Amino acid sequence: MPVVFDSEKRVFKLDTPSSSYAMKISPTGYLLHLYYGAYVPDTDLDYLRMRQRNAAFSACVASAEEGGLSLDTAQLEYPVNGSGDFRSVALSVRGANGSSVTDIRYRSHRIYPGKPKLEGLPATYTNDDSEAETLEIVCVDELTGAEITLIYAAFSKLDVITRSVRIANTSDKPFSIERVHSAAVDFTEMDFDMLHLQGRWAKERTLVTRHLEFGLQGIHSRRGSSSHNNNPFIALARDGYTEESGEVFGFSFVYSGNFAAEVEVDCMRSTRVLMGTDPVDFAWKLEPGESFQAPEVVMVYSDHGVGGMSRTYHKLYRFNLCRGEWKTKKRPIIVNNWEATYFNFDSEKLVAIAKDAADLGIEMLVMDDGWFGKRNNDKSSLGDWYVNEDKLKGGLAELVRRVNALGVKFGIWFEPEMISPDSDLYRAHPDWCLHTEGRERSIGRNQYVLDMSRKDVRDNIFDQMYKILSSANIEYVKWDFNRNLTEVGSELLPPDRQSEVAHRYMLGVYELLERLLAAFPHLLLEGCSGGGGRFDAGMLYYSPQIWTSDDTDAIERLEIQYGTSIVYPPSAMSAHVSACPNHQTKRTSPFKTRGDVAMAGAFGYELDLTKLNDDERGLVRRQVADYHRYYDVIQNGDYYRLINPTESKGDMTSAAAWESVSSDKREVLLTYVVIRTQPSMSRYIRLRGLDPALTYTDTESGRSYSGALLMNAGLNLTGFWRDGESRVWHFTAERK
Ligand code: GLA
Repeated sequence: MPVVFDSEKRVFKLDTPSSSYAMKISPTGYLLHLYYGAYVPDTDLDYLRMRQRNAAFSACVASAEEGGLSLDTAQLEYPVNGSGDFRSVALSVRGANGSSVTDIRYRSHRIYPGKPKLEGLPATYTNDDSEAETLEIVCVDELTGAEITLIYAAFSKLDVITRSVRIANTSDKPFSIERVHSAAVDFTEMDFDMLHLQGRWAKERTLVTRHLEFGLQGIHSRRGSSSHNNNPFIALARDGYTEESGEVFGFSFVYSGNFAAEVEVDCMRSTRVLMGTDPVDFAWKLEPGESFQAPEVVMVYSDHGVGGMSRTYHKLYRFNLCRGEWKTKKRPIIVNNWEATYFNFDSEKLVAIAKDAADLGIEMLVMDDGWFGKRNNDKSSLGDWYVNEDKLKGGLAELVRRVNALGVKFGIWFEPEMISPDSDLYRAHPDWCLHTEGRERSIGRNQYVLDMSRKDVRDNIFDQMYKILSSANIEYVKWDFNRNLTEVGSELLPPDRQSEVAHRYMLGVYELLERLLAAFPHLLLEGCSGGGGRFDAGMLYYSPQIWTSDDTDAIERLEIQYGTSIVYPPSAMSAHVSACPNHQTKRTSPFKTRGDVAMAGAFGYELDLTKLNDDERGLVRRQVADYHRYYDVIQNGDYYRLINPTESKGDMTSAAAWESVSSDKREVLLTYVVIRTQPSMSRYIRLRGLDPALTYTDTESGRSYSGALLMNAGLNLTGFWRDGESRVWHFTAERK
């Protein structure tokens, strides 16, 4: 039973295979957090709640029954504003009397198998009820009538506890939610590193770590999307952890809009983690009878270091977040024409690429930006989703028919949330973009952002997309999003609801995605936002793969994919071989290396196949064969990061290495890439996750090693390596 309630001690305990999480109802109904960490069998955890007060300055709860409980220093399950807890809080409700003092107490709870859907939002789910158990705790703020339901699901086979919060107005007056985090956890110590994924356009998700200090630290996005800059994820790793050992607590937000992860260390050396929608410029008015659902936070516990945490996220996100037939179906090898042609293409050019694709075994052609309206550069036509027949002579259906006739599938690019000022749509509806009356409209990549909180806007875009997608055999859509949100206002909402727009925008996008998938259930959707600017768990609910970065340089991708793999599985990371000199960095790296690096994700090409020489064509054939040969171990295996490309050891060849191990441990794929070579240097690489007792054979050389030898002594890489050179080893151990 993952969730138990000890009614005598009034303790809730949630257990996963290796972790426990506990809280207690105090005599007058405060929810006190007791524990989150390695599995413990006890429920008699009351002694943990005794906390030192901050001398006379700590206010205490008035009721004598609470024995001088001070919210200033207590470990609180869901901290609120204004009643004596001076740390950052999870919830603040402004009532009809104008005050934001909030006070919530336990009212009731229920425990049930499975996991509920979250109205209008992406969330993890169970494939059958035995995979998780849910605890809902209802707390009430008597004065405002706010009813707060804390929702927890404990997974039975993974060390995962999910959190979310629903707030209902049960009174006869409106109130306003001014801050609502989806999860709060109080830890009794501060001896942790905080890990997060930092970046910018074309350099997304670099893993950074820092030790916790007293005071506030954290990350956020106020860009209207999860952003290139800070991924909606943090982890606390207890001192002494490594990549494969020690305790790590992960927090990942299943949301694609503004978010905040706040970590505060107080004078008692205790640490509070909060994660939810960013409180800045956020407020939500609830009329009597209305309710608000906050997005989900996925907490992962690992006692096998950062790698253990990643493997849990990978499994959960692959099987309990991604949906539809493409969640496990083998993805097609794609060739995308963006870096091949940019805006300069026509049907003949696309068919020529498709011919080569067919010859080389590449399975799908994706027609990127530039096929619609009058779009010959990025200055016009977003919103005008009708075919430019000057480019696609004979129309889209005819082009798709010709590509399909070659045995190649067809995919298409859209940027549904955007509108160019130079478009028929904007000329007809200048009020349809996000804007604030009386303020200038900021422009980004020559475009404005459509007000996706409006149903009429969504209907229009859906109808246009529907027409295109049902006009031909289109099996894939790349859904792009290429600027941040500014002047976030909506013409249809009253002044006291303008702070709801950023979240309503996201709800609108999710609704449109859902509608599209309902209309085209076989569609493979690929997320994109100028590369990986919206690479988050929210989008993975709709699109099982996301374009990882606009930087296709193999060496840069080592860091980007390393950081991305901290949370997201290889199946989610779209990765393509592109031409050299690379368009983003001007670097030239070997064609083989480009393939070996892209092979670690959802594989494809981003170049003009018609321009490849014979050697390169040979390498493409080899890569296509490798893709099919290694697909299972890469996509379904366990992922191990062996060498971090970001950690530069000055006296050593800088490199990257990663490994996939099949679940029965009988197949292993290891990739090693040299970034900057050095003379007279030896290097050994020790494998991980193998069975020490099995004998593994290198399928190329035929040499055999015990698993123990590969994990403890490792492979000897001494020899001459060039900058950018890569090598792949494939081992198998006989299957019974
Ligand atoms: C974004 C995407 C690219 C490409 C262009 C098209 O930058 O990340 O892959 O689709 O838009 O304009």
